[in-house]
Amino acid sequence: MNNWQELEHKYFVQTGVRVPVTLVKGQGARAWDDEGKEYLDFVGGWAVNSLGHCHPVVAEATTEQAHTLVQTSNQFYTVPQLQLAELLVQNSCLDRIYVCNSGAEANEGAVKLARRYGKLKLNGAYEVITAMNSFHGRTLAMTAATGQPKFQEPYLPLPLGFINVEYNSIEAIKAATTNQTCAVMLEPIEAEGGVIIPDDKYLAAVRTWCNQKGILLILDEIQTGIGRTGTLFAYEQYDIEPDIMTLAKGLGSGVPIGAFMAKDEVCVFAPGEHGSTFGGNCLTCATAYATVKYIIDNDIAGNAKKVGSYFMSKLEGLKKKFDFITDVRGRGLLIAVEFNSDIGQEVLMACLEGGLLVNRLKPNALRFIPPLIIGNQEVDEAVGILDKVLSNIGN
Ligand SMILES: Cc1ncc(COP(=O)(O)O)c(C=O)c1O
Repeated sequence: MNNWQELEHKYFVQTGVRVPVTLVKGQGARAWDDEGKEYLDFVGGWAVNSLGHCHPVVAEATTEQAHTLVQTSNQFYTVPQLQLAELLVQNSCLDRIYVCNSGAEANEGAVKLARRYGKLKLNGAYEVITAMNSFHGRTLAMTAATGQPKFQEPYLPLPLGFINVEYNSIEAIKAATTNQTCAVMLEPIEAEGGVIIPDDKYLAAVRTWCNQKGILLILDEIQTGIGRTGTLFAYEQYDIEPDIMTLAKGLGSGVPIGAFMAKDEVCVFAPGEHGSTFGGNCLTCATAYATVKYIIDNDIAGNAKKVGSYFMSKLEGLKKKFDFITDVRGRGLLIAVEFNSDIGQEVLMACLEGGLLVNRLKPNALRFIPPLIIGNQEVDEAVGILDKVLSNIGN
Protein backbone atom coordinates (compact mmCIF):
# COMPACT_ATOMS: atom_id res chain seq x y z
CA MET A 1 0.00 0.00 0.00
CA ASN A 2 1.21 3.52 -0.76
CA ASN A 3 2.17 5.71 2.14
CA TRP A 4 -0.25 8.45 1.14
CA GLN A 5 0.78 10.81 3.91
CA GLU A 6 4.44 10.69 2.83
CA LEU A 7 3.36 11.37 -0.74
CA GLU A 8 1.45 14.41 0.44
CA HIS A 9 4.54 15.79 2.17
CA LYS A 10 6.61 15.17 -0.93
CA TYR A 11 4.31 16.42 -3.68
CA PHE A 12 1.67 18.70 -2.28
CA VAL A 13 2.05 22.43 -1.71
CA GLN A 14 2.07 22.54 2.08
CA THR A 15 -0.96 24.67 2.88
CA GLY A 16 -3.19 22.20 4.71
CA VAL A 17 -3.18 21.52 8.42
CA ARG A 18 -4.20 17.87 8.23
CA VAL A 19 -4.78 15.19 10.81
CA PRO A 20 -2.99 11.88 10.19
CA VAL A 21 -5.88 9.98 8.65
CA THR A 22 -6.37 9.02 5.01
CA LEU A 23 -10.07 8.61 4.30
CA VAL A 24 -10.97 6.30 1.46
CA LYS A 25 -14.69 5.62 1.77
CA GLY A 26 -17.85 7.18 3.19
CA GLN A 27 -21.49 6.25 3.72
CA GLY A 28 -23.99 8.51 5.44
CA ALA A 29 -22.40 9.95 8.57
CA ARG A 30 -19.62 7.31 8.55
CA ALA A 31 -16.20 7.32 6.90
CA TRP A 32 -13.42 4.74 6.73
CA ASP A 33 -9.66 5.15 6.55
CA ASP A 34 -7.16 3.19 4.45
CA GLU A 35 -6.68 0.70 7.29
CA GLY A 36 -10.40 -0.03 7.50
CA LYS A 37 -11.02 1.93 10.70
CA GLU A 38 -14.55 3.36 10.92
CA TYR A 39 -15.31 6.91 12.07
CA LEU A 40 -18.43 8.87 12.85
CA ASP A 41 -17.97 11.96 10.71
CA PHE A 42 -18.95 15.20 12.48
CA VAL A 43 -16.77 17.30 10.17
CA GLY A 44 -18.96 16.62 7.15
CA GLY A 45 -16.43 17.87 4.61
CA TRP A 46 -16.42 21.24 6.48
CA ALA A 47 -20.20 21.67 6.50
CA VAL A 48 -20.47 20.44 2.91
CA ASN A 49 -21.88 16.90 3.04
CA SER A 50 -25.40 18.00 3.86
CA LEU A 51 -26.84 14.59 2.97
CA GLY A 52 -23.82 12.69 4.25
CA HIS A 53 -21.43 10.62 2.19
CA CYS A 54 -22.70 9.00 -1.00
CA HIS A 55 -26.41 9.57 -0.36
CA PRO A 56 -28.31 7.48 -2.95
CA VAL A 57 -30.13 10.55 -4.30
CA VAL A 58 -26.81 12.37 -4.77
CA ALA A 59 -25.00 9.34 -6.18
CA GLU A 60 -27.80 8.58 -8.65
CA ALA A 61 -28.18 12.16 -9.89
CA THR A 62 -24.42 12.50 -10.35
CA THR A 63 -24.05 9.14 -12.10
CA GLU A 64 -26.98 9.72 -14.43
CA GLN A 65 -25.73 13.17 -15.39
CA ALA A 66 -22.18 11.84 -15.87
CA HIS A 67 -23.61 9.47 -18.48
CA THR A 68 -25.69 12.21 -20.12
CA LEU A 69 -23.87 15.54 -20.40
CA VAL A 70 -21.13 17.01 -18.22
CA GLN A 71 -19.81 20.29 -19.61
CA THR A 72 -20.96 22.51 -22.44
CA SER A 73 -19.81 26.05 -21.49
CA ASN A 74 -22.32 28.80 -20.83
CA GLN A 75 -22.47 29.57 -24.52
CA PHE A 76 -25.48 27.23 -24.46
CA TYR A 77 -28.61 26.75 -22.39
CA THR A 78 -28.46 23.61 -20.24
CA VAL A 79 -31.23 21.96 -18.24
CA PRO A 80 -29.76 21.08 -14.77
CA GLN A 81 -28.57 24.67 -14.27
CA LEU A 82 -32.05 26.03 -14.99
CA GLN A 83 -33.80 23.43 -12.84
CA LEU A 84 -31.52 24.41 -9.95
CA ALA A 85 -32.12 28.11 -10.60
CA GLU A 86 -35.91 27.71 -10.57
CA LEU A 87 -35.84 25.59 -7.40
CA LEU A 88 -33.67 28.03 -5.44
CA VAL A 89 -35.53 31.13 -6.61
CA GLN A 90 -38.92 29.56 -5.81
CA ASN A 91 -37.73 28.66 -2.31
CA SER A 92 -35.99 31.93 -1.37
CA CYS A 93 -36.70 35.67 -1.35
CA LEU A 94 -34.29 36.28 -4.23
CA ASP A 95 -35.23 36.56 -7.91
CA ARG A 96 -32.16 35.48 -9.86
CA ILE A 97 -29.10 33.29 -9.49
CA TYR A 98 -25.61 32.98 -10.89
CA VAL A 99 -23.94 29.60 -10.41
CA CYS A 100 -20.18 29.22 -9.89
CA ASN A 101 -17.76 26.77 -8.32
CA SER A 102 -16.94 27.70 -4.72
CA GLY A 103 -17.79 29.95 -1.82
CA ALA A 104 -15.02 32.47 -2.41
CA GLU A 105 -16.04 32.75 -6.04
CA ALA A 106 -19.69 33.27 -5.05
CA ASN A 107 -18.64 36.11 -2.75
CA GLU A 108 -16.40 37.61 -5.44
CA GLY A 109 -19.38 37.64 -7.79
CA ALA A 110 -21.60 39.19 -5.13
CA VAL A 111 -19.08 41.95 -4.45
CA LYS A 112 -18.59 42.58 -8.18
CA LEU A 113 -22.36 42.90 -8.53
CA ALA A 114 -22.50 45.33 -5.58
CA ARG A 115 -19.67 47.39 -7.10
CA ARG A 116 -21.42 47.43 -10.46
CA TYR A 117 -24.56 48.60 -8.65
CA GLY A 118 -22.50 51.25 -6.88
CA LYS A 119 -21.05 52.44 -10.18
CA LEU A 120 -24.41 52.66 -11.90
CA LYS A 121 -26.73 53.71 -9.08
CA LEU A 122 -24.66 55.16 -6.22
CA ASN A 123 -22.33 57.63 -7.95
CA GLY A 124 -19.46 55.16 -8.16
CA ALA A 125 -19.56 53.97 -4.54
CA TYR A 126 -17.45 50.82 -4.23
CA GLU A 127 -16.62 50.13 -0.60
CA VAL A 128 -18.01 47.06 1.13
CA ILE A 129 -18.27 46.99 4.92
CA THR A 130 -17.57 43.55 6.39
CA ALA A 131 -17.09 42.28 9.93
CA MET A 132 -14.06 41.48 12.01
CA ASN A 133 -13.73 37.80 12.74
CA SER A 134 -15.63 36.99 9.55
CA PHE A 135 -14.62 34.46 6.93
CA HIS A 136 -15.46 34.99 3.27
CA GLY A 137 -12.87 32.89 1.41
CA ARG A 138 -9.26 32.75 0.28
CA THR A 139 -9.05 34.80 -2.93
CA LEU A 140 -7.21 38.09 -2.52
CA ALA A 141 -10.37 40.19 -2.45
CA MET A 142 -12.10 37.80 -0.04
CA THR A 143 -8.99 37.84 2.14
CA ALA A 144 -9.48 41.61 2.34
CA ALA A 145 -13.17 41.04 3.14
CA THR A 146 -12.30 38.48 5.83
CA GLY A 147 -11.73 40.53 8.97
CA GLN A 148 -8.99 38.39 10.48
CA PRO A 149 -5.38 39.66 10.55
CA LYS A 150 -3.93 36.12 10.50
CA PHE A 151 -5.37 35.59 7.00
CA GLN A 152 -4.56 39.10 5.78
CA GLU A 153 -1.03 39.82 7.00
CA PRO A 154 0.85 37.29 4.81
CA TYR A 155 -0.62 38.91 1.66
CA LEU A 156 -0.47 42.64 2.31
CA PRO A 157 -1.13 44.85 0.43
CA LEU A 158 -4.66 43.61 -0.26
CA PRO A 159 -7.22 44.87 -2.78
CA LEU A 160 -8.85 48.13 -1.71
CA GLY A 161 -12.47 48.68 -0.88
CA PHE A 162 -13.14 46.55 2.20
CA ILE A 163 -13.72 48.05 5.64
CA ASN A 164 -13.67 45.53 8.51
CA VAL A 165 -15.73 46.61 11.51
CA GLU A 166 -16.80 45.06 14.80
CA TYR A 167 -19.44 42.30 14.38
CA ASN A 168 -22.77 42.58 16.13
CA SER A 169 -22.49 46.38 16.35
CA ILE A 170 -24.86 48.45 14.24
CA GLU A 171 -23.04 51.55 15.49
CA ALA A 172 -19.78 50.28 13.95
CA ILE A 173 -21.51 49.87 10.58
CA LYS A 174 -23.09 53.30 10.83
CA ALA A 175 -19.73 54.88 11.67
CA ALA A 176 -18.02 53.19 8.72
CA THR A 177 -20.68 54.12 6.15
CA THR A 178 -19.66 56.92 3.78
CA ASN A 179 -20.76 58.08 0.34
CA GLN A 180 -18.29 55.51 -1.02
CA THR A 181 -20.17 52.57 0.58
CA CYS A 182 -22.09 50.33 -1.82
CA ALA A 183 -22.81 47.36 0.47
CA VAL A 184 -22.55 45.66 3.83
CA MET A 185 -21.57 41.98 3.68
CA LEU A 186 -22.14 39.76 6.73
CA GLU A 187 -22.50 36.15 7.80
CA PRO A 188 -25.78 35.56 9.72
CA ILE A 189 -23.59 33.59 12.16
CA GLU A 190 -19.80 33.97 12.05
CA ALA A 191 -18.99 30.33 11.45
CA GLU A 192 -15.21 29.95 10.92
CA GLY A 193 -14.70 32.94 13.21
CA GLY A 194 -15.96 30.96 16.20
CA VAL A 195 -19.69 30.21 15.68
CA ILE A 196 -20.54 33.71 16.90
CA ILE A 197 -24.29 34.30 16.98
CA PRO A 198 -25.27 37.98 16.85
CA ASP A 199 -28.04 39.55 18.94
CA ASP A 200 -31.52 38.83 17.61
CA LYS A 201 -32.02 42.42 16.46
CA TYR A 202 -28.62 43.01 14.81
CA LEU A 203 -29.40 41.93 11.25
CA ALA A 204 -32.77 43.71 11.28
CA ALA A 205 -30.99 46.91 12.35
CA VAL A 206 -28.43 46.45 9.56
CA ARG A 207 -31.26 45.89 7.08
CA THR A 208 -32.97 49.12 8.20
CA TRP A 209 -29.68 51.04 7.95
CA CYS A 210 -28.99 49.72 4.43
CA ASN A 211 -32.52 50.75 3.39
CA GLN A 212 -32.03 54.23 4.82
CA LYS A 213 -28.74 54.66 3.00
CA GLY A 214 -29.80 52.96 -0.22
CA ILE A 215 -26.92 50.50 0.04
CA LEU A 216 -27.04 46.72 -0.44
CA LEU A 217 -27.09 43.99 2.18
CA ILE A 218 -25.16 40.90 1.13
CA LEU A 219 -25.60 37.85 3.35
CA ASP A 220 -22.89 35.21 3.11
CA GLU A 221 -24.93 32.04 3.73
CA ILE A 222 -22.18 29.78 2.45
CA GLN A 223 -21.99 27.96 5.75
CA THR A 224 -25.38 28.79 7.29
CA GLY A 225 -27.49 28.12 4.18
CA ILE A 226 -29.15 25.00 2.76
CA GLY A 227 -30.68 23.89 6.04
CA ARG A 228 -27.62 23.94 8.30
CA THR A 229 -29.07 26.24 10.98
CA GLY A 230 -32.60 24.81 11.03
CA THR A 231 -34.24 26.74 8.19
CA LEU A 232 -33.38 26.54 4.50
CA PHE A 233 -31.63 29.91 4.84
CA ALA A 234 -30.59 31.56 8.11
CA TYR A 235 -32.05 34.96 7.10
CA GLU A 236 -35.52 33.45 7.60
CA GLN A 237 -34.85 33.35 11.35
CA TYR A 238 -34.12 37.09 11.50
CA ASP A 239 -37.19 38.21 9.60
CA ILE A 240 -35.21 40.12 6.99
CA GLU A 241 -34.40 39.73 3.30
CA PRO A 242 -30.95 40.32 1.84
CA ASP A 243 -30.43 42.01 -1.53
CA ILE A 244 -27.78 39.45 -2.41
CA MET A 245 -27.10 36.06 -0.83
CA THR A 246 -24.21 33.71 -1.42
CA LEU A 247 -24.25 29.92 -1.20
CA ALA A 248 -21.77 27.04 -1.59
CA LYS A 249 -20.76 24.21 0.79
CA GLY A 250 -23.98 22.22 1.48
CA LEU A 251 -25.53 23.21 -1.86
CA GLY A 252 -24.10 20.20 -3.68
CA SER A 253 -23.64 17.80 -0.76
CA GLY A 254 -20.03 17.31 -1.78
CA VAL A 255 -19.59 18.46 -5.37
CA PRO A 256 -17.84 21.83 -5.78
CA ILE A 257 -20.52 24.42 -6.47
CA GLY A 258 -21.31 27.97 -5.35
CA ALA A 259 -23.87 30.60 -6.26
CA PHE A 260 -24.98 34.11 -5.62
CA MET A 261 -28.62 35.09 -5.71
CA ALA A 262 -30.01 38.61 -5.95
CA LYS A 263 -33.17 40.69 -6.07
CA ASP A 264 -34.26 41.68 -9.56
CA GLU A 265 -33.53 45.39 -9.10
CA VAL A 266 -29.94 44.65 -8.06
CA CYS A 267 -29.11 42.50 -11.10
CA VAL A 268 -27.35 45.25 -13.05
CA PHE A 269 -24.71 43.13 -14.81
CA ALA A 270 -24.77 43.48 -18.58
CA PRO A 271 -24.05 40.35 -20.66
CA GLY A 272 -20.32 39.66 -20.66
CA GLU A 273 -19.54 41.51 -17.42
CA HIS A 274 -19.15 38.32 -15.37
CA GLY A 275 -18.59 34.68 -16.26
CA SER A 276 -16.95 31.33 -15.59
CA THR A 277 -15.98 28.28 -17.63
CA PHE A 278 -17.25 25.69 -15.17
CA GLY A 279 -19.92 27.75 -13.39
CA GLY A 280 -23.30 26.10 -13.77
CA ASN A 281 -21.72 22.92 -15.11
CA CYS A 282 -24.33 20.21 -15.85
CA LEU A 283 -22.79 17.66 -13.49
CA THR A 284 -22.54 19.82 -10.38
CA CYS A 285 -25.92 21.43 -11.03
CA ALA A 286 -27.66 18.06 -11.40
CA THR A 287 -26.17 16.99 -8.07
CA ALA A 288 -27.09 20.28 -6.39
CA TYR A 289 -30.63 20.14 -7.77
CA ALA A 290 -31.11 16.61 -6.39
CA THR A 291 -29.60 17.68 -3.05
CA VAL A 292 -31.68 20.81 -2.57
CA LYS A 293 -34.88 19.11 -3.76
CA TYR A 294 -34.35 16.28 -1.28
CA ILE A 295 -33.59 18.76 1.52
CA ILE A 296 -36.79 20.71 0.81
CA ASP A 297 -39.07 17.71 0.18
CA ASN A 298 -37.94 15.92 3.35
CA ASP A 299 -37.65 18.96 5.65
CA ILE A 300 -34.00 18.21 6.34
CA ALA A 301 -33.65 21.73 7.80
CA GLY A 302 -36.31 20.76 10.36
CA ASN A 303 -34.24 17.68 11.18
CA ALA A 304 -31.13 19.85 11.64
CA LYS A 305 -33.11 22.02 14.06
CA LYS A 306 -34.48 19.08 16.04
CA VAL A 307 -31.30 17.02 16.21
CA GLY A 308 -29.23 20.18 16.72
CA SER A 309 -31.17 21.14 19.83
CA TYR A 310 -30.88 17.57 21.16
CA PHE A 311 -27.13 17.73 20.51
CA MET A 312 -26.87 21.11 22.27
CA SER A 313 -28.71 19.73 25.31
CA LYS A 314 -26.29 16.79 25.49
CA LEU A 315 -23.30 19.13 25.18
CA GLU A 316 -24.77 21.32 27.93
CA GLY A 317 -24.78 18.13 30.00
CA LEU A 318 -21.05 17.71 29.32
CA LYS A 319 -20.50 21.36 30.26
CA LYS A 320 -22.09 20.70 33.65
CA LYS A 321 -19.85 17.67 34.11
CA PHE A 322 -16.54 19.19 32.96
CA ASP A 323 -15.78 22.60 34.37
CA PHE A 324 -13.12 23.24 31.71
CA ILE A 325 -15.90 23.55 29.10
CA THR A 326 -16.64 27.26 29.16
CA ASP A 327 -19.24 27.56 26.41
CA VAL A 328 -21.57 25.56 24.16
CA ARG A 329 -23.17 27.57 21.36
CA GLY A 330 -24.76 27.05 17.98
CA ARG A 331 -27.85 26.87 15.83
CA GLY A 332 -29.13 23.75 14.13
CA LEU A 333 -26.13 21.60 13.27
CA LEU A 334 -23.51 24.35 13.44
CA ILE A 335 -22.22 24.00 16.98
CA ALA A 336 -19.09 24.94 18.91
CA VAL A 337 -17.70 23.86 22.26
CA GLU A 338 -15.12 26.08 23.92
CA PHE A 339 -12.59 25.13 26.61
CA ASN A 340 -10.77 27.27 29.16
CA SER A 341 -7.37 26.33 27.66
CA ASP A 342 -5.85 25.32 24.32
CA ILE A 343 -6.75 21.62 24.43
CA GLY A 344 -8.59 21.61 21.08
CA GLN A 345 -5.93 19.59 19.25
CA GLU A 346 -5.54 17.11 22.10
CA VAL A 347 -9.30 16.54 22.21
CA LEU A 348 -9.46 16.23 18.42
CA MET A 349 -6.69 13.60 18.36
CA ALA A 350 -8.29 11.61 21.21
CA CYS A 351 -11.67 11.73 19.43
CA LEU A 352 -9.96 10.43 16.31
CA GLU A 353 -8.58 7.52 18.31
CA GLY A 354 -12.09 6.93 19.68
CA GLY A 355 -13.61 6.93 16.17
CA LEU A 356 -15.08 10.43 15.96
CA LEU A 357 -14.05 13.08 13.42
CA VAL A 358 -14.33 16.67 14.70
CA ASN A 359 -13.04 20.05 13.58
CA ARG A 360 -10.73 22.25 15.62
CA LEU A 361 -12.26 25.71 15.36
CA LYS A 362 -9.68 27.53 17.46
CA PRO A 363 -6.85 26.33 19.72
CA ASN A 364 -9.42 26.20 22.53
CA ALA A 365 -12.58 25.25 20.63
CA LEU A 366 -14.12 22.49 18.53
CA ARG A 367 -16.80 22.75 15.88
CA PHE A 368 -19.40 20.12 14.99
CA ILE A 369 -20.80 20.36 11.46
CA PRO A 370 -22.14 16.86 10.72
CA PRO A 371 -24.42 15.83 7.85
CA LEU A 372 -27.93 17.23 8.31
CA ILE A 373 -29.48 13.77 8.06
CA ILE A 374 -28.14 12.44 11.36
CA GLY A 375 -30.48 11.39 14.17
CA ASN A 376 -30.28 11.38 17.96
CA GLN A 377 -28.53 8.00 17.85
CA GLU A 378 -25.47 9.43 16.10
CA VAL A 379 -25.49 12.34 18.55
CA ASP A 380 -25.54 9.91 21.50
CA GLU A 381 -22.62 8.02 19.98
CA ALA A 382 -20.58 11.19 19.38
CA VAL A 383 -21.32 12.58 22.85
CA GLY A 384 -20.38 9.20 24.37
CA ILE A 385 -16.96 9.33 22.67
CA LEU A 386 -16.47 12.96 23.66
CA ASP A 387 -17.46 12.21 27.26
CA LYS A 388 -14.81 9.46 27.49
CA VAL A 389 -12.16 11.68 25.88
CA LEU A 390 -12.90 14.60 28.20
CA SER A 391 -12.94 12.31 31.26
CA ASN A 392 -9.42 11.15 30.37
CA ILE A 393 -8.23 14.71 29.77
CA GLY A 394 -9.85 15.90 33.01
CA ASN A 395 -7.97 13.26 35.03
C1 LIG B 1 -19.09 31.88 5.49
C2 LIG B 1 -18.09 31.41 4.46
N1 LIG B 1 -17.90 32.14 3.35
C3 LIG B 1 -17.05 31.75 2.40
C4 LIG B 1 -16.29 30.60 2.54
C5 LIG B 1 -15.33 30.21 1.45
O1 LIG B 1 -15.83 29.11 0.75
P1 LIG B 1 -14.86 28.24 -0.17
O2 LIG B 1 -13.88 27.58 0.73
O3 LIG B 1 -15.78 27.28 -0.87
O4 LIG B 1 -14.21 29.18 -1.13
C6 LIG B 1 -16.43 29.83 3.68
C7 LIG B 1 -15.61 28.63 3.88
O5 LIG B 1 -15.45 28.11 4.93
C8 LIG B 1 -17.36 30.24 4.67
O6 LIG B 1 -17.53 29.54 5.80
